[in-house]
Amino acid sequence: MASILVLAALIFAVICSATTTATAHDSCTLLGHILPRNQVLFPSDESYKTVNDRWSLTAKLEPSCVVLPTSAQDVSSALKVLVTRSTLFAVKSKGHNAITGFNNINGGVTIDLSWINETTLAKDRSLVRLGSGAAWVDAYRKLNSQGVSFPGGRCSTTGVGGLTLGGGISFYSAKVGFVADNVLNFEVVLASGKIVNANMDHNSDLFMALKGGSSNFGIVTRFEVKAFKDYGRIFGGGVFSKATTDTTSQSLNGVYNFVKQNHKDEDAALATIFNYNATGKYILNSMVYTKPVAIPAIFKAQFSIPHIANDMRIRTMADMTEQVTTFLPWGYRDLFATATIVNKMSVIEAAHRISDQIYEEVQHVPDLVWNFYFEPLPRLFTDHSEQLGGNIMGLNRTQEDLIVMMLNPRWRDAEYDAEMADAAEAWVDSIRQSANRLSGSNDFQFLNYAAKFQRPLESYGPPNLDFMRHVSFKYDPHEIFQNLMPGAYKISR
Ligand SMILES: Cc1cc2nc3c(=O)[nH]c(=O)nc-3n(C[C@H](O)[C@H](O)[C@H](O)COP(=O)(O)OP(=O)(O)OC[C@H]3O[C@@H](n4cnc5c(N)ncnc54)[C@H](O)[C@@H]3O)c2cc1C
Ligand SMILES: *[C@@H]1O[C@H](CO)[C@@H](O)[C@H](O)[C@H]1NC(C)=O
Ligand SMILES: *[C@@H]1O[C@H](CO)[C@@H](O)[C@H](O)[C@H]1NC(C)=O
Ligand SMILES: *[C@@H]1O[C@H](CO)[C@@H](O)[C@H](O)[C@H]1NC(C)=O
Repeated sequence: MASILVLAALIFAVICSATTTATAHDSCTLLGHILPRNQVLFPSDESYKTVNDRWSLTAKLEPSCVVLPTSAQDVSSALKVLVTRSTLFAVKSKGHNAITGFNNINGGVTIDLSWINETTLAKDRSLVRLGSGAAWVDAYRKLNSQGVSFPGGRCSTTGVGGLTLGGGISFYSAKVGFVADNVLNFEVVLASGKIVNANMDHNSDLFMALKGGSSNFGIVTRFEVKAFKDYGRIFGGGVFSKATTDTTSQSLNGVYNFVKQNHKDEDAALATIFNYNATGKYILNSMVYTKPVAIPAIFKAQFSIPHIANDMRIRTMADMTEQVTTFLPWGYRDLFATATIVNKMSVIEAAHRISDQIYEEVQHVPDLVWNFYFEPLPRLFTDHSEQLGGNIMGLNRTQEDLIVMMLNPRWRDAEYDAEMADAAEAWVDSIRQSANRLSGSNDFQFLNYAAKFQRPLESYGPPNLDFMRHVSFKYDPHEIFQNLMPGAYKISR
């Protein structure tokens, strides 16, 4: 009875304050009455701290409350309150984006999707249904044991939602393209609170925009992803070397040749990672073969690099994603930045040289870990995208084999945030300039790896940006996701 009175009073307050900006705190109180009490966490609640944890310390903020919906219906109810009351909000799946404000918000309301985490196999085994807040490791563990696999994240704790809406590179990209390419249906909560499906036949424009367009159109609650036969085990792990002149040149040549040959063996995935810290400089050649075959010929070059550790073995995909996580533990301040280059030896060597030089300038930063990645993006990935109906990332404009580069400095002290951002910007500019000079540049910015100062949505090209603007305005005419959800890359900014 008491709570009904409170609710009535709150609704009355909402009506009376319609013209003034209501505080997030009042919206939280209202949400606490609409949703079960345990689904709205306030700063005084014990689990508030845990739920606001993030992979990177740069993403940790303090919202007025955290809402934990368990269904699309819950998301819809929460969104209606936030929209009616003009309350600023953030959306989080598994919280791995490191940019401050992208998946959390000081003072506003955070919609945390981690309780929408179902991972089920369709009866006919053709697709898997993944809740936006599921961690990839849980999806792999459960569904691989039922004999199917699907493209997903390479690190155990990353989330279905953020990774897929940014395109998503997986260990299966040479086999089936980007993660987003394999989505058959998105279940989306629109700004109006309406729950719709977006697929090839229904809301097909929204379907296309969501395949790389991030959070400009709605809150996706569920992804139906094309499944295929799983071989039970994969062959994967890493070969870890000290970085010397020789191992560096062997690794860089290894990337180049791998990218050239990937179309001949679509089960193979490689990422070559340079890993520098105060102790020394190392190289990790991280490899996965999506069948239990040791040792596939395509990895011969990587295996012949002198190394200090080699943990390549036949294992489950879930185990592989956990192995990747041990290399990227939680608890640092992080920055991601990206540049795309053409697969040309001169361009690869220049990008490596630049990454080395910029490290020299910042290595005084205490506890600094300086990771930079060469990740294959052969035309093969986009051939698959095209076969599956295309995506919004604009990669079909280029016929060349590419490499996505990612820089990920990790440090401890906020005092160095600005210096790290400057270094990352210098890194992007220098790589682009040198690639231009060597006729090996490409405009693509992979959204999942982009820094705050980058503009991945624009990098998809003017027609695709226009298309996303059109779709955003059609499905969100009041621009709720542009204005009330300030984090993440926005087509209006
Ligand atoms: C350790 C590590 C490993 C990684 N490995 C890979 C990899 O293998 N492949 C790859 O492509 N990328 C990878 N990334 C990058 C990764 O894709 C991004 O960090 C991505 O944001 C992670 O998804 P998330 O759900 O955990 O993120 P979150 O930070 O929760 O979400 C990211 C963004 O998407 C928005 N968002 C999330 N869910 C929804 C939704 N359902 N509806 C609307 N908007 C939503 C959020 O508001 C936020 O702006 C990795 C990152 C890390 C830190
Ligand atoms: C998955 O969701 C359920 C509620 O739907 C929740 O109880 C559980 O803790 C969630 N799992 C994770 C890992 O968050
Ligand atoms: C540097 O990295 C190496 C290899 O990953 C690790 O063994 C070492 O402990 C690290 N040193 C520091 C100071 O973090
Ligand atoms: C690229 O794909 C998009 C979306 O499928 C399509 O509209 C566009 O015409 C394609 N462009 C090229 C050059 O093939």
